[in-house]
Amino acid sequence: YLNYRVPKTQRHVLETLIKGLQRLEYRGYDSAGVAVDGPNKAAHGNGKQICVIKQQGKVEVLAEKLRSKSQQLHDYLISNKVCPAPLTTNALSLVLEGKGFKFESETDTEVIPKMLKYLHQQPDAKGISFSSLVENAVKELEGAFAIVVKSVHYPGEVVYTIRTFICSAIVEHTRRVIFVEDDDVAAVTGGNLSLHRVCRGPGQDCRAIQTLEMELEQIVKGSYSSYMQKEIFEQPESVMNTMRGRMKFESNMVMLGGLKDHVKVIKRCRRLILIGCGTSYHAAIATRQVLEELTELPVMVELASDFLDRHTPVFRDDVCFFISQSGETADTLMALHFCKENGALTAGITNTVGSSISRDTDCGIHINAGPEIGVASTKAYTSQVVALVMFALFMSEDRISMKQRRQAIFKGLQELPDQIREVLQIDDDVKELAANLYKQLSLLIMGRGYNYATCLEGALKIKEITYMHSEGILSGELKHGPLALVDNKMPVIMIITRDGTYTKCHNALKQVTARQGLPVVLCEKGDKETMSLASKALLLPSTVDCLQGILAVIPLQLLNLAKSVTVE
Ligand code: F6R
Repeated sequence: YLNYRVPKTQRHVLETLIKGLQRLEYRGYDSAGVAVDGPNKAAHGNGKQICVIKQQGKVEVLAEKLRSKSQQLHDYLISNKVCPAPLTTNALSLVLEGKGFKFESETDTEVIPKMLKYLHQQPDAKGISFSSLVENAVKELEGAFAIVVKSVHYPGEVVYTIRTFICSAIVEHTRRVIFVEDDDVAAVTGGNLSLHRVCRGPGQDCRAIQTLEMELEQIVKGSYSSYMQKEIFEQPESVMNTMRGRMKFESNMVMLGGLKDHVKVIKRCRRLILIGCGTSYHAAIATRQVLEELTELPVMVELASDFLDRHTPVFRDDVCFFISQSGETADTLMALHFCKENGALTAGITNTVGSSISRDTDCGIHINAGPEIGVASTKAYTSQVVALVMFALFMSEDRISMKQRRQAIFKGLQELPDQIREVLQIDDDVKELAANLYKQLSLLIMGRGYNYATCLEGALKIKEITYMHSEGILSGELKHGPLALVDNKMPVIMIITRDGTYTKCHNALKQVTARQGLPVVLCEKGDKETMSLASKALLLPSTVDCLQGILAVIPLQLLNLAKSVTVE
């Protein structure tokens, strides 16, 4: 990028950094920057000046800035101004202010360089290595962070440390990685990497190199307009990948290698507790009934934050599942540590190999949906549901009385990828619906039984992506309040499928139409009775009750996509 005074190797470094930043751009950052050794000697210390080049806006704008030949790197010399920075109420920043440090920004990150500088100035810091200096600083920090540090006092060195973040911008350069764990400090000196634990004493300083099972194609958007669209349309393959190598359709058997050593303990447990946040929590609600039915165990579903707020009693004979696409969600991770402290068996349902949740649990299932880059979770949800249904089948293998029921679910899972493909074709109907909903203030989504979770998940997607108010309502609760919202102006979607709640769903439909409501109905193909009462119907292929929600959620995923595009 820089043809100006930048040696070839450094140009390569800049290109790598820019590409890495571009890979992270989907997360919605509004500015970006890079820091590299500059051409001139630093005024202090014994190294080169460190040049920080930063720019508001997209990474491409930063790249342009770097490409512009008129710019010299040393125009961007590091100064206090370029450090992003802290909440002035932060206790540590107050202490540092007391020691004469001035803070110039409102972010807490600024504490870190200030503290490093302070520690470096202490008399006993003479001759201290860069990584030890960073270790000493990290011991004082609370909360989650990932930092890379360079200093003019330590030329040619970079130190990296982390608490609860994972860096994913590197796949196109290498797939061989070392997972840096919380409170590790990694230092690169003269091209050599060393790793050190900060708080947990000596030992375990060595970490194996692992290979990421990830291809570049999996994380590029291709011809799709957004990652979310790509991931919605990937669902026939992603659910297939969740089942791959695990489902034996010829013999109606399922093998979950990550749980097989714990089956006996799980079968004898007091209860199953499923814990997650947002969409992952909805996957727990979606599968609670089939888990209760096939495991014959009590099943609790819990929002991780609420579970922690309540200090819920957890026992040694509980089995706790932690459902998380990223495997890094702080509340879910804290709930995991809480359950471990209480002696429960812990299992992870994650999509990220090597994530904190997958590492810290005793056992689990990787959903193998492939990287989910869109901010709103879509394919991870359907794969989480499939993984939990597979777990229910796995637990009921020896139940002769459940043979037929299990057969129906196996058949449903086998047909699922093709049926998802079929549902994805109603994209145009959904666009038409979106055009009608555009400009509405609110949308109610109603259903019950297996589809209560579908309503909650659909409403969450609408809120998150279109910024429109939406509420998922259990149809059985309509008469206890929410019906008052319904009239001929309030947009309503009702999910009505031919399962055990069909008649009750029809009661709800009649309650809505009696109040002049104009419901759009998601129902099964051939269900003329429901279609005749709806103002519009979106038709789904039929499957077994516990999988119907996977097919029903897809039009809602597509709907919010269509609506968000309309709004933009
Ligand atoms: C919604 C969404 C979030 C996540 C939640 C948990 O579209 O993406 O609600 O589901 O933040 O994240 P994970 O599953 O990574 O623990």
